[in-house]
Amino acid sequence: MRLNMKIKSILMASLMAAVGLSACGSNNKEKPATEEPQPTKTIVCYFSATGTTADAAKRIAEQTGATLYEITPEVAYTDEDLDWTNDQSRSSLEMKDPEARTAIGGELPDLTQYETVFIGYPNWWNTHPTIINTFIESTNLDGKTIVPFMTSGGSSIDNSMKQLRETYPSLNIHDGILMNHVSDSELETFLTSLD
Ligand SMILES: Cc1cc2nc3c(=O)[nH]c(=O)nc-3n(C[C@H](O)[C@H](O)[C@H](O)COP(=O)(O)O)c2cc1C
Repeated sequence: MRLNMKIKSILMASLMAAVGLSACGSNNKEKPATEEPQPTKTIVCYFSATGTTADAAKRIAEQTGATLYEITPEVAYTDEDLDWTNDQSRSSLEMKDPEARTAIGGELPDLTQYETVFIGYPNWWNTHPTIINTFIESTNLDGKTIVPFMTSGGSSIDNSMKQLRETYPSLNIHDGILMNHVSDSELETFLTSLD
């Protein structure tokens, strides 16, 4: 009988200790900050006249979990506007004028929370379209890492990189990527190199 009581009290004590421990765990109100969902620090901003750069932008946003922002012209480009064989077309005239700053329509993004800003565009006349200059000059990119990306009919991103760095020497412009025919694993390697 005595032994029985002793066993019972040991069991009781163990039970209370277990309940106490689990209660202690659930009462822990000070959760580590890492459990809070963190806002993304990367945004992918892009201009695309015919959809190819838009697809590239979506791939980058998917792989990085970034916010996506489309840079849209105030006046959309028509097929005639995009005719590079006509030296009087809108795009030809804009690209010939170093002062041209194509107006952006809609609201500009608030870049405060972002550390990395991808900027994507098609190659026009072996460089970036003038709306990209408008975007860079209308937003505050100081202290952020800018990562250009481009799609093209075959031309490289090199001249655009050179011109961006010459025009905006105070900005931190990372080497960009030409997205033509880039596989998922190549893209992943590039994105990992940014960390
Ligand atoms: C006005 C204009 C000029 C272009 N100039 C070039 C060029 O110099 N080199 C090139 O490889 N592709 C050039 N292209 C082709 C585009 O870069 C290519 O089709 C791009 O992927 C289109 O992207 P988007 O669909 O996002 O607008 C030009 C296209 C347009 C409309």
